[in-house]
Amino acid sequence: MVANSEKPTLPSDSIPTAQTNGKVHNLLKTLQLVNNNKDSLTMDDLVLLLYGHSAFQNLYAGCELGVFELLWEHPDLSQAEIAQQLQLAGYPTKALLLGLTALKLIQKVGDRYRNSLVIQMLFLEKIWKEFYDVVLFEAKIVYRGSIDYVDSLRQNRNVGLRQFRGQGADLYNRLHEDPGLDQVFYNFMGSWSKLVNPLWVKTIDFSRFDSVVDVGGGDATNSIALAQAFPNLKITLMDIPDSCKIAQRHIDQQQLSDRIQVMGTNIFIDEFPKNQDCFLFIHVLVIWSLADNTKLLRRAHEALNPGGSVVIFNMMTSDNEDGPLMAALDSSYFVSIPHEGGMIYTWRDHENCLREAGFTQMERIDCGFWAPSGIIVATK
Ligand SMILES: C[S@@+](CC[C@H](N)C(=O)[O-])C[C@H]1O[C@@H](n2cnc3c(N)ncnc32)[C@H](O)[C@@H]1O
Repeated sequence: MVANSEKPTLPSDSIPTAQTNGKVHNLLKTLQLVNNNKDSLTMDDLVLLLYGHSAFQNLYAGCELGVFELLWEHPDLSQAEIAQQLQLAGYPTKALLLGLTALKLIQKVGDRYRNSLVIQMLFLEKIWKEFYDVVLFEAKIVYRGSIDYVDSLRQNRNVGLRQFRGQGADLYNRLHEDPGLDQVFYNFMGSWSKLVNPLWVKTIDFSRFDSVVDVGGGDATNSIALAQAFPNLKITLMDIPDSCKIAQRHIDQQQLSDRIQVMGTNIFIDEFPKNQDCFLFIHVLVIWSLADNTKLLRRAHEALNPGGSVVIFNMMTSDNEDGPLMAALDSSYFVSIPHEGGMIYTWRDHENCLREAGFTQMERIDCGFWAPSGIIVATK
């Protein structure tokens, strides 16, 4: 609680009315400066929060209706040309282009439209598909379950799971019970992993290991990247049996089935393979509670050879729990939907779990990426 005496008070003549509005704005700016710019929320920020759902729906519509692809191929089109190319009526085109322009996703120059530089960069770097897969995941999975965020907080459990068909105990099991949803999820997960796995594959010297276990390895995007970068490695991918079928298909396509073995398993119940040099926890220690994470890390510690390592890679929250924004917003998804107890934990939370699991030596690596991805390597 902030003591009353510490609260900045507004002078009585600046109660926000239409007449004094400007004064209140100026006063807010002054108070924000006095607060060392830490309190920097503006009314414009508040507008974006109030209409956050519409902001996302405009982005999603721009993707689904093909605006960004069209403007990448044909920049500087007029409203009428865009409507004609996308086979949309004039009125919805007008509304959509207004939304996309106001959100800075596209630019209006005279009466012609082009993609913003950031959108152009996604095409130039050939990562548009990966970005689009993330948008589809947000639209078809995160949006659906996030309606239950408040109830999830109240009830201290992932109430949003109820929005997904099936009997599975968590989202990962239900994905395979809701037709097409596993494809949305693994397209996203594979695309996101493809975007970020160079951050850890290129940073860690895996040539010192012979055997690596990819715990909760998903569709095998990471195992495949690792096997291709380090031809000496033997990799075991552990995941639930339904997801292993997707992983096996990808491994076969890359002709890597002699190097990557797939284990259909429940990682909380079934034995971890013994005498391993490295256990990877990529984008998984965000799903469960810290107690569950410690349990998994202890199992890895027991199964590691002396000198072997655990690698944790996912987004990280700062130790003083004030961001980064992406870590905070992604946490709401983990609270609402996939499983009880998950969020984007702090670096220190993960280090505490590692210590409890028996590790004494650990190193943090901040990837310096636009997403707050981080690596922790702990050695036995
Ligand atoms: C967020 S995805 C991450 C996938 C992959 N590591 C990546 O980075 O692309 C989490 C994965 O953990 C798997 N998983 C969740 N609970 C599991 C369990 N109890 N046993 C085995 N795998 C599990 C899911 O099926 C899913 O593929």
